[in-house]
Amino acid sequence: MAKIVIEGGIPLKGSVKISGAKNSALPLMSASLLTAGKCILYNVPKLKDVDTMKDIMREMGVQFIEEDNLLIDSTYLRFKEAPYELVRQMRASILLLGPLLARHGRARIALPGGCAIGARPVNLHLSALSAMGAEINLDKGYIDAKANRLKGADIFFDIPTVTGTENVMMAATLAEGKTMIRNAAKEPEIVDLANMLRSMGAYIRGDGTDTIVIDGVKELYPAEHRIIPDRIEAGTFMIASAMTRGEVEIKDCRPEHLGALIEKLEKTGAEIMIGDENIFVKGPDRIRSVDIKTMPFPGFPTDLQAQFMSMMCIADGCSVIKETIFENRFIHVGELRRMGADIEVNGSQATVKGRKRLLAAPVVATDLRASASLILAGLVAEQGRTEVYEIHHLDRGYESLEKKFASLGAKIWRES
Ligand code: EPU
Repeated sequence: MAKIVIEGGIPLKGSVKISGAKNSALPLMSASLLTAGKCILYNVPKLKDVDTMKDIMREMGVQFIEEDNLLIDSTYLRFKEAPYELVRQMRASILLLGPLLARHGRARIALPGGCAIGARPVNLHLSALSAMGAEINLDKGYIDAKANRLKGADIFFDIPTVTGTENVMMAATLAEGKTMIRNAAKEPEIVDLANMLRSMGAYIRGDGTDTIVIDGVKELYPAEHRIIPDRIEAGTFMIASAMTRGEVEIKDCRPEHLGALIEKLEKTGAEIMIGDENIFVKGPDRIRSVDIKTMPFPGFPTDLQAQFMSMMCIADGCSVIKETIFENRFIHVGELRRMGADIEVNGSQATVKGRKRLLAAPVVATDLRASASLILAGLVAEQGRTEVYEIHHLDRGYESLEKKFASLGAKIWRES
């Protein structure tokens, strides 16, 4: 069984380059279905989730040519279901629903179930697409959807859903008339998608605010697009530098996407210098404890909650961590406790009492960001080797994480 092994205690030093954003790459790949022709994506991260998306799209007749960039040719798109074996590996497969309905008028995608971090329903995606005229049936665990030409609609999301907003945006580009999405998600990945759709000929405004307006067009055209840097990968390295008392320059990132984390890290005592596309983080001698509450962008991202919690395990004092996005995103707590962390969980709130040190231990990763938090804990753990198992979770969303940490001086490697 593959595992990552870490001998902790080394302050990270040097510079690290951030890869393209997973949560942009997936909707952008899906957006390429909206046109017959060849789109090119630059800065595509090498990740399992990207490979899974390719596998599903290949079944639908899409061709890929991969060099440094990813050329996606959707000319011969055909109707084919997105099977449960693949969808259960990656819930983001739901992102194919909007584009398939818009371009093809037909889609059949396995209904994603819950996952380790929560129930994660897709009711908001389905009700919005129904409001746009799609006929949607649930059949043997599959979403079966049909539409002639979708019609623009006024959509209000009860919760600002990221992939829901993306699905409706993509569907609306080819719909008849105007679509308004109110209480839309404002994440940078939404803006990245809107930018690519505009390059393809779509009329979209308001992305990055809570009201997005899309005027449907008859046809979209192939485009080329560079994927934004992964703010969660950048944030993971920032926290790692701070908690190992390191000095790391995070290169090729967008500081404006990391405002909430920068503010919290400064409160821990870390020194942060911000450039145009780089951030330098120097860890404090004594880490001060800081409270966080996860919120939709521009609030503190749920995808960095587990990593920040690892840092709070060795902070001076007591930190309260409130998770408001997913109902079960504290699964890393049990494993952190095995490394000596003092954490109490009460519903959606965790109270972390900082300890002087964490101790190396074998631990099991339970989801993508939980894996990262355990690796961070391993980087500071004392007395031996931390072994992180089930690292297939990590490979879904981090490109060569252990190699990047090793290049910063950490003693970390992968063993089969
Ligand atoms: N929700 C509903 N109904 C819906 C859709 C969402 O109730 O139809 C709820 C969810 O259960 C959750 C909240 O709304 O409580 C927000 O979920 P959202 O839909 O925004 O999440 P998502 O689109 O499924 C994306 C990212 C996640 C990230 C969240 C929140 C992608 C591919 N995934 O998920 O990324 O945590 O937004 O920012 O963009 C990760 O990368 O590790 C990851 C989980």
